[in-house]
Amino acid sequence: MTRPRSGLLPPIHLQLQGEPAHRQICDWLRGAITDGRLRPGQGVPSSRALAVELGISRTTVMTAFEQLQAEGYLESVVGAGTRIAAVIPDDVLDAIDTTRGGHGTQRAPRAISTRSRTLLAMPQDSQPQSVGAFRACIPALDRFPHATWSALLRRHARHASPALMAYGDPMGHRPLRDALAGHLGAVRAARCDASQIMITAGAQQALQLCARVLLDPGDAIWMEEPGYPGAQRAFTVAGARLVPVPVDQHGLDIEEGLRREAHPRAVYVTPSHQYPMGAIMNAARRTQLLAAATRAGSWIIEDDYDSEYRFAGRPIASLQGLDTDERVIYVGTFSKVLFPALRVGYLVLPRDLVAPFRAARDAADLFPSTLLQAALADFLREGHFARHIGRMRMLYKQRCAALVRALRMQIGERFEIVNAEAGLHLVALLPPALDDGAISRRLAGFDIAVGPLSYCCLQTPPRRGLILGYGSSSESQLEGAVARLAAVLAATT
Ligand SMILES: Cc1ncc(COP(=O)(O)O)c(C=O)c1O
Repeated sequence: MTRPRSGLLPPIHLQLQGEPAHRQICDWLRGAITDGRLRPGQGVPSSRALAVELGISRTTVMTAFEQLQAEGYLESVVGAGTRIAAVIPDDVLDAIDTTRGGHGTQRAPRAISTRSRTLLAMPQDSQPQSVGAFRACIPALDRFPHATWSALLRRHARHASPALMAYGDPMGHRPLRDALAGHLGAVRAARCDASQIMITAGAQQALQLCARVLLDPGDAIWMEEPGYPGAQRAFTVAGARLVPVPVDQHGLDIEEGLRREAHPRAVYVTPSHQYPMGAIMNAARRTQLLAAATRAGSWIIEDDYDSEYRFAGRPIASLQGLDTDERVIYVGTFSKVLFPALRVGYLVLPRDLVAPFRAARDAADLFPSTLLQAALADFLREGHFARHIGRMRMLYKQRCAALVRALRMQIGERFEIVNAEAGLHLVALLPPALDDGAISRRLAGFDIAVGPLSYCCLQTPPRRGLILGYGSSSESQLEGAVARLAAVLAATT
């Protein structure tokens, strides 16, 4: 057992008057144990060392240690000295907790912000870490080109220059931004250069930064209904007023949006593949949205989270590429193309927003991790990225078709499948009597991660449904999960 110096313990200031010193030491150590700062099994300094450090007699420290041993907080191990007891008796903890209000106490709720309370009341993902069948928005993790990726990481880790290891640019690593500008121009018809690109910790941080830079508390933002819960949360934390705007087969219903709030400060949209319903916004609707935003002076936040995977037809240009008024903020991510744990996404900013976003980033986490960005820049430049997308598009098209087939065969007409032609998930609408939340909870017990459509709604949903991801599951896993789903449905009705 290593014996720490007392400097590694929580600080103590002994009072010369009042309570005797051994009691003060008891209270100090007991408090640190019950509130979790000292852990079971952790060593404590010897009584001699602690006495020297605190400038008191060794007998005083030994008296305190003996008291705490008698109470069950400390134990002495032959040849190894004193340590925190491996098991702190529950009754001791309970007694201390209720009298002192220590760690684990049932307290009356204490003050947190109204925004945090609102956030806590929103539906939470019950299995955020699950990669089980149907988990939406997870790519085929087993098809990731690990060998190429690790070679690129090694290349940069081995020969990391001081510039790569020191503080970086809040906008991100320039070679990655250059590579992205080329990619987005070619594939998404985006109009930008590298100076407008900021690398972020995934799309989620990009949305957070949008909220911070563009919205004051109380400002209205149009949200797609149903829509992406991560965006709902990001704008809720900013204190924005979320205005739900319905989506139809062409995406956001602009007329209805104008009826609900004519002058939103911002509009959040997923035009390439509406999350979760899957609609692709048509050209007329895109023009209508850009014109409405220009008239109202609104920003448009375009979340282009999985546009790489369109199975039929030609790719549609991004809204950013159609925008002649520089009011679209484009959000992209590597989570669906590579893997979510990479935590790399990006923003394409109108030129006049570069300085405020840069300042907000500097105040938040300074800049993104540079080593990953350097490897990612090479991944793009050397063509691995484009190749991987091409392969995955074929794979997801097959998996999507397999899922639709299995649903039709095993569940039939009870599900209405919508927009199964792009991305990593589809939505199956349920008959009115079925509760999507209850079905999702029952399937969670079998490690099947079905997202309830109602969790994506700010208002009472007109239809309930299930969000079924197919990206990360093989065809046979999908068939097995559909069989389980069919059994749960049969037991539910
Ligand atoms: C619509 C939408 N936007 C953004 C994201 C988040 O991506 P990231 O992992 O980069 O935060 C997701 C993830 O599922 C999503 O569905």
